Amino acid sequence: MQKFIITGGKRLSGELVLQGSKNSCLPIMAASLLCSSECTLHSCPKLTDVYAASRILNCVGCKCSFSENTAVIDPGNVSCTAISEELMREMRSSIIFMGAMLGRAGECIVSVPGGCELGPRPIDMHLSALRKMGVEITETGGIIRCRTPSGRAKGTRISLAFPSVGATENVILCAVTAEGDTVINNAAREPEICDLCGFLRACGADIAGDGGSRILIKGKQQLHGCEYTIMPDRIAGATYLSMVAASKGELILTNACTAEMEPFLSVLEQTGCSIYTSDDRIYLRSAARLKAVRDRIRTMPHPGFPTDAQAVLMAALSLADGTSVFEENIFDCRYRHTGALIKMGADIQVLGKVAVVKGAERLFGAAAEATDLRGGAAMVIAAICAEGRSEISRICHIDRGYEKIEEAVRLLGGDMRRV
Ligand code: UD1
Repeated sequence: MQKFIITGGKRLSGELVLQGSKNSCLPIMAASLLCSSECTLHSCPKLTDVYAASRILNCVGCKCSFSENTAVIDPGNVSCTAISEELMREMRSSIIFMGAMLGRAGECIVSVPGGCELGPRPIDMHLSALRKMGVEITETGGIIRCRTPSGRAKGTRISLAFPSVGATENVILCAVTAEGDTVINNAAREPEICDLCGFLRACGADIAGDGGSRILIKGKQQLHGCEYTIMPDRIAGATYLSMVAASKGELILTNACTAEMEPFLSVLEQTGCSIYTSDDRIYLRSAARLKAVRDRIRTMPHPGFPTDAQAVLMAALSLADGTSVFEENIFDCRYRHTGALIKMGADIQVLGKVAVVKGAERLFGAAAEATDLRGGAAMVIAAICAEGRSEISRICHIDRGYEKIEEAVRLLGGDMRRV
């Protein structure tokens, strides 16, 4: 089992090129199934979740090859419509292959992704929206069998009870090749939804309104392949900015999606850091000691503060001057990283969906186990700012979302090794 060994106390400074977005890359890889010819995807992050998506493509008969950060997917030959339980379990986002397979073949067999480290992850909204599109779905023993009687789903009006990212993506994937028009009300507005729609438009799909709450899709018989560049990863960006801010350092982040990161940047700025943005660059210079964030940090669907950035900002605020308050509104179990931060000397109290973080004078190195992807990244940040040595285990969680995080930290002058 690999671990990270981190010796804290170094001020980080330098320049980083932001990786491509994991949460864009996965649905776009699934969307390539809808095309009749080859897709070339640039800026694919080298992550275990991306390789899991390529194994799913292989399992249904598509060739997928990587050369550095470019993936070439040949969806010409889909020979199988069942995805094994083992592959479905490898990552929770495998559920987006359900909409893509339905759009491609009009049928599929997948399995319930199950709960995960963030708590229960129901898919009721995905299933009810697809049923409304004429998909017949049966669930037995965790296996979900989906079929469309005519071989194509039917466009319809869908209103989501909550702007779920995954449910919005599944409906879009099923609707772009459905018969007729689909309208999604209360759609998720996350930038990754716009990136998926941008890719699908480049393949010939007719989609409008993405980025807003109402998405309109006119079904097309077939889509073609294209060449596309995945957007930058705003959450990896938030992680490196929080890390450098906490280390009292300086960072130039290039290939950044500055507008999409604004909900995070406007909160980070309240810590006293100087932040300047231009085109695709973010410059950050940290204050001598961060200030607590005065307003309650409420996680919300985009354009609210992203739940995925809650843990990494909390790690930085563990050392700020004053008390910050978080309110987690998206997931039930998203404070599991606090145990490790407290072990390192942070003063955090969790009461239901609220976490009260009183800035400590210093943190101390410790052994910790990554509990989940962003929680693991928060532990890395705390370890970088702590006095002494930390050992972080179960780093498979961190590898799901960060491309060579230890190399990025070393490039900025930090002391972090993988053993
Ligand atoms: C996606 C992101 C994840 C991010 C989350 C919220 C990917 C691969 N993952 O996850 O990093 O944290 O958006 O921004 O893009 N829900 C239901 N029923 C459903 C669907 C969702 O109750 O059918 C609930 C979930 O349990 C959760 C909330 O809705 O509490 C938000 O989930 P959703 O937006 O669907 O997140 P994901 O797409 O799973």
